[in-house]
Amino acid sequence: MQALNGTLVAGVIRQGVAARVEELAGQGIRPGLAAVLVGENPASKVYVGSKVRTCQSLGLYSEKIELAAETTTEELLRLVEELNHREEIDGILIQLPLPPQIDARRILEAVDPAKDVDGFHANNVGRLVQGEEWLVPCTPAGVIEMLEHYRIPLAGAQAVVIGRSDIVGKPMAMLLLHRHATVTICHSRTRDLPAVVRQADLIIAAIGRPAMVTGDYVREGAVVVDVGMNKVTTPEEVRRIFPDRDHASRLAELAQRGYTLVGDVEPRSVEERASWLSPVPGGVGPLTIATLMKNTLRAAQLRRGLGRPASLAPRS
Ligand code: GUN
Repeated sequence: MQALNGTLVAGVIRQGVAARVEELAGQGIRPGLAAVLVGENPASKVYVGSKVRTCQSLGLYSEKIELAAETTTEELLRLVEELNHREEIDGILIQLPLPPQIDARRILEAVDPAKDVDGFHANNVGRLVQGEEWLVPCTPAGVIEMLEHYRIPLAGAQAVVIGRSDIVGKPMAMLLLHRHATVTICHSRTRDLPAVVRQADLIIAAIGRPAMVTGDYVREGAVVVDVGMNKVTTPEEVRRIFPDRDHASRLAELAQRGYTLVGDVEPRSVEERASWLSPVPGGVGPLTIATLMKNTLRAAQLRRGLGRPASLAPRS
């Protein structure tokens, strides 16, 4: 088994973005991202902080806008409108989840599709389905970059996506389909899930259930991408889920932080069968923010008519 190193691929993506940002600076253009955080979700705070810091390190302009947990839909709509009209803002990111009193769909639809760096607006979803990859959700776009970096063959491959979320599963399936994979989307109601997944050359696990995909789901030699991010909080689980060689470091992390991260894939059993596996952490995670930077750059160029970047999708 070889590791799909997302940290490495994210570095390659960031370098490419930084180089183009420098070129644009010569033309007086500085791509800008506004990241909006509503409320006090600790994980969201970490993500937004990391997004803004990455912008700074690559030479992009960024703003972090923090609003109180009791913000109303109307108030957030007014902010989105203001950001839609601000010239120095190319990308608008509304960190999810939003507090329950806010109508998230209305907010996401209010974002100017040209500034929708998450690719969540219906216009961008529609374009994606039609095979035009304009602004594509960051996590699945990052997975494609990683598969392409490692030259994993997609055309003709049997791909199984486990999970049907709007953020990962559905756009992931479209991106793979456009690269000529044969795509199956599975979910919680799929009958005999292990048997369906065992048909796959390429497995994308995006269900949000710790270590659910075991070796029993994996055909010998399959490529496995683990999009999950779950917390393991007991030593017994650590011993059950991880290979022996990792126990000491995982248990030390557990003692220090109270948890250690596991994906949707059980490394212990899947490592024995997969040809490639993306680790957690260090697999898909770092790609999401790198792709967000790329989307912000892309939005800045598209808004200025600097040519449509070459479509990611080979059209047949
Ligand atoms: N929350 C979890 N994932 C994401 C994402 O990709 N974008 C935004 N905006 N919020 C998220």
